[in-house]
Amino acid sequence: MSQLVGIVLAAGQGTRMKSQTPKVLHRLAGRSLVAWSVGAALEAGADRCVVVVGHGREQVEADLRARFGDRVDFAHQAEQRGTGHAVRCAMEQALEGFSGAVFVLYGDCPLVLPSTIRRLVDARGRAPLSLVTATLADPTGYGRILREGGAVVGIREQRDCAPRELAIDEVNPGLYAIDAAFLREAMGALTTDNAQGELYLTDVVAMAAKAGGAIDVPGDMGELRGVNDRRELALCGEVLRRRINDALASSGVGIVDPACTYVDADVVVEPDTTIAPNVHLRGRCVVRSGAIIDVGCVLQDVEVDAGAHLLPYTVAADSRVGPSAHVGPFTHLRPATVLHEGAKVGNFCETKKTIVGKDSKVNHLSYVGDGVLGEGVNVGAGTIFCNYDGFQKHTTVLDDGAFIGSDSQIVAPVRVGKGAYVASGSTVTRDVPDDALAMSRTKQVNKEGYASRLKARFAFSKKSST
Ligand code: UD1
Ligand code: CA
Repeated sequence: MSQLVGIVLAAGQGTRMKSQTPKVLHRLAGRSLVAWSVGAALEAGADRCVVVVGHGREQVEADLRARFGDRVDFAHQAEQRGTGHAVRCAMEQALEGFSGAVFVLYGDCPLVLPSTIRRLVDARGRAPLSLVTATLADPTGYGRILREGGAVVGIREQRDCAPRELAIDEVNPGLYAIDAAFLREAMGALTTDNAQGELYLTDVVAMAAKAGGAIDVPGDMGELRGVNDRRELALCGEVLRRRINDALASSGVGIVDPACTYVDADVVVEPDTTIAPNVHLRGRCVVRSGAIIDVGCVLQDVEVDAGAHLLPYTVAADSRVGPSAHVGPFTHLRPATVLHEGAKVGNFCETKKTIVGKDSKVNHLSYVGDGVLGEGVNVGAGTIFCNYDGFQKHTTVLDDGAFIGSDSQIVAPVRVGKGAYVASGSTVTRDVPDDALAMSRTKQVNKEGYASRLKARFAFSKKSST
């Protein structure tokens, strides 16, 4: 079988986005636009993929390397002289002597399905080129498909169209399968004789029509829409969201309201889970069977184990919520928080780089940072781990069964031993031995009858001052 290579064009700045970020690095469902295109190319069966980069070259390369490793090669287009010039860069820099077939797609078309690319590649047969075409109620901005006697004879860019050509509603979505040898020759014949003074890849279609035929494959614009501005970015985001949520729902995930549930493409959600409205699962989250993610939770790279329950408005990053653990409502798990089985972090708490052992509880209004909590520990309301001295972070260790009374400050580095008690309102600065009681607050004094004497004194001073 002859080899198949994908070429993805991603060198443009995308001025219509009005952004410092190169257009192809804008993200949808956790992936850059260009990563969506490259992913589709590889999934369609390309042996490798050559990406033409220019604007934001280093960033684009880094983004794709991180995701695809050696399966992508790069060609550099230093000056953006048009889509034809971009393909020429790919042929000269990365495909010299290559004699199989290529397919070309643009780096700003995140919705393209691998099955469409496959269809296009198969349809070409022995012809020099095949392309996808689609009809659009409003074809503005797209290159128009020119036909003679039913056959495709060329593409005319919007800006080069004669008035009657502007009325053509069949457009070029920008997907082509091309014989490499033919393409190499066609590249040499391109001219800048057009409204933009660029080398147009689209001119190759007319050359193919003369050299054996341009085979057209009907496509659906719903899948082929490009991103040129922020409005189109949002529209494509909506389509991807629907695809992801539909796939999850059919696999058995209980998505309560798919219209307002935001799950990145690389997230794994097991069947028989519940995802409430306004939840965002970002990056590489994993949600295991039986877990419930309640309203408004925002999770980034979090693993939620079986049967765990995140109550409304939990915000968490780079953390792990163990089996049957409970979190929230309104709680913030910062990076490197690990909750073991049955652990509980209740409302209005903040955790960071802390392990909470099996069945341990941090239930109300606490900050626990740089902590190691054993099993069956109880941290009372309003406890603060004082982990930072302005220079370094220090660790607090609470051994199994330790009990911290409410409103205590634990000044790290410090250890509270097995089964030990810290009395409410204490400031702990020294280690507490196993089974000891630590109490650092001042002793209570009761003065009998003192309250009414005080009130009389206050009333008198108020009267004499008015
Ligand atoms: C292009 C097509 C048009 C088609 C439309 C579909 C051409 C001449 N026109 O127009 O027929 O209907 O796409 O979306 O091909 N790029 C480079 N180097 C360049 C220029 C562009 O790498 O020198 C890349 C861009 O980064 C982008 C892609 O090619 O990812 C398409 O470029 P863009 O300027 O958006 O082309 P359109 O004007 O939309
Ligand atoms: Ca475009």
